[in-house]
Amino acid sequence: NRTAKTLQRECDAVVVAGIGGSYLGARMVIDALANTFGWLQESKYPRILFAGNNIGEDYLSELIGYLKTVSFGIINISKSGTTTETAITFRLLKTLCEQQRGKEEAAKVIVAVTDAKRGAARVTADKEGYKSFIIPDNVGGRFSVLTPVGLLPIAVAGFDIAALVKGAQDMEAQTAPEVPFMEHPAAVYAAIRNALYQDGKKIEILANYQPKLHNLGEWWKQLYGESEGKDGKGIFPASVDLTTDLHSMGQWIQDGERTIFETVVSVEQPNTCLEVPSDEENLDGLNFLAGRRIDEVNKMAELGTKLAHVDGGVPNIRLSITKLDEYHIGQLIYMFERACGISGLLLEVNPFDQPGVEAYKKNMFALLCKPGCEAETEAIKARL
Ligand code: PA5
Repeated sequence: NRTAKTLQRECDAVVVAGIGGSYLGARMVIDALANTFGWLQESKYPRILFAGNNIGEDYLSELIGYLKTVSFGIINISKSGTTTETAITFRLLKTLCEQQRGKEEAAKVIVAVTDAKRGAARVTADKEGYKSFIIPDNVGGRFSVLTPVGLLPIAVAGFDIAALVKGAQDMEAQTAPEVPFMEHPAAVYAAIRNALYQDGKKIEILANYQPKLHNLGEWWKQLYGESEGKDGKGIFPASVDLTTDLHSMGQWIQDGERTIFETVVSVEQPNTCLEVPSDEENLDGLNFLAGRRIDEVNKMAELGTKLAHVDGGVPNIRLSITKLDEYHIGQLIYMFERACGISGLLLEVNPFDQPGVEAYKKNMFALLCKPGCEAETEAIKARL
């Protein structure tokens, strides 16, 4: 929290440079908690921006164009400290930050979250004297949102990380090994999804009915996709935002190939209150809804969709959370992480490694003629 306060005091914007597990968790939590249109308003907290998760030249040029107009800080997150997307972005950001503030002042608003000893991010942080946080050795990137990887950006954005962690701790107790199976949400979820997979349901669609949860889908896809997709096995994790995507993917889900099941994350209570207004002319015929909560309409859409999808041959799992606040999101994170470990073991894969992500990197470096990769460069050129 002390580092978060420094960044809050010194910066209008903070760029989180990281990819995969090094940014998706923070992005998911901040999006779920923040006012959707807050970025259009003045705020006492810095705007949190995400980069280092792509190599889009336009994306990076446009980001830099914006950063030239504000005072910004950087949270450079990389467990290995060598990830290309993040490292290229960090180079650009560091250069600009030093141009704006001078090297000494820039060092006060650049923070590293990385390995204790290994990797370029660690070497740079130690050499430049950046404040740094350690990613524990035994925590893989996609399981790291409850370490400084997620907690620091979330705190900078102004959210209560103690409540987030408390929610996770309470869920840790609720999913302890001695908890009976039927009372253990993570074991039940893991068991059901594996039973469905054995039954030919190869795709799991995570559905939400709250736009703020779009990035929950992105985080969850990485968590389950990278943990389970190996050895020629694994449920393919997909996600949809409803009711929005009922007007695009809805047709496929209702009537397409019957290899899918759906897991709905349902939020019981909205944080605000809004009713459908009455209209004198009633041209749309919706006066029967006047005075009723928007959330009631949403909940009936959810129930109606569930019944339709089940009728259409799409099994439905429902995960309910009380509301979108730090405590309940902490619970949800821990439940999904615990279930992911259990599920991987049921599938008989190692859920904590990701050997498959190296293949593209090897080819990219060979194609870019990285020194030391001469043999690979020759071999790959012969294929083109
Ligand atoms: O879950 C994982 O291990 C990966 O998705 C990593 O988080 C991602 O590849 C980024 O790696 P790093 O933090 O080493 O830059």
